Amino acid sequence: MKVTINDFLKMKPEGKKITMLTAYDYPFAQIVDEAGMDAILVGDSLAMVVQGLENTLPVTMDEMIYHTKMVSRAVKRAMVIGDMPYLSYQVSVEDAVRNAGRFIKEAGAQAVKIEGGREAAEKVEAMTKAEIPVMAHIGLTPQAVHRMGGYKVQGRTEEAAKTLLEDAKILQDAGAFSLLLEAIPAELAAQITNGLFVPTIGIGAGPHCDGQVLVIHDVLGLFERFVPKFVKRYANLKEEALKAIKQYKEEVEKGIFPGKEHSF
Ligand code: KIV
Repeated sequence: MKVTINDFLKMKPEGKKITMLTAYDYPFAQIVDEAGMDAILVGDSLAMVVQGLENTLPVTMDEMIYHTKMVSRAVKRAMVIGDMPYLSYQVSVEDAVRNAGRFIKEAGAQAVKIEGGREAAEKVEAMTKAEIPVMAHIGLTPQAVHRMGGYKVQGRTEEAAKTLLEDAKILQDAGAFSLLLEAIPAELAAQITNGLFVPTIGIGAGPHCDGQVLVIHDVLGLFERFVPKFVKRYANLKEEALKAIKQYKEEVEKGIFPGKEHSF
């Protein structure tokens, strides 16, 4: 049975932590699903970790749909959440609903995620009314990298913290089924979490959120350009892959591969 937004809402009062990880293609989505993660985010982070771009801004709707389709095809249980790319929802409510609808209708996602505080509320409301579950993303919002002047921890001043607390409530009232909190002090994340009935999913937001999310390439050691403080690397797949590929090259060069058992 697929994880639904009702499961998310139930897990919070039960004190069960919600687990979420990104994936961008069929084989990794299959592994993440098999591992039992509750949700898979097809994050616009794919611009950086898959496409090799400087930031998340250039990735397009069509590219996000392409990747979300591959993930949906692989997943049996996890909720698939499509991340709405820059300019797919900022310009108008109509854009927001139409593009969010593509993730559901064309790509097989069960929900979408958008970045932004109170300014995103009317879009969250319209998408929710169009039967599209929305996860709202506040704190460090990477699509605002130029306004923020880099990837910096948010909500450090009293005023900024107050704004985030208010934004969280406004987005919940607008219909968001969950809030993603990125790079904010743990104490503030705890306050936001305790003030909401919808669950919070943290990344760099401390241990008191209702769930956690990370980028799979960070977790597996496949992205080296920079490693944020909040990342824990659980494997070094780059090293493993390098070892395997070097061995294959050597065996071809020495005539060891293919052997009899690989020949007809
Ligand atoms: O695009 C992404 O991967 C994200 C992270 C915060 C998980 O939004």
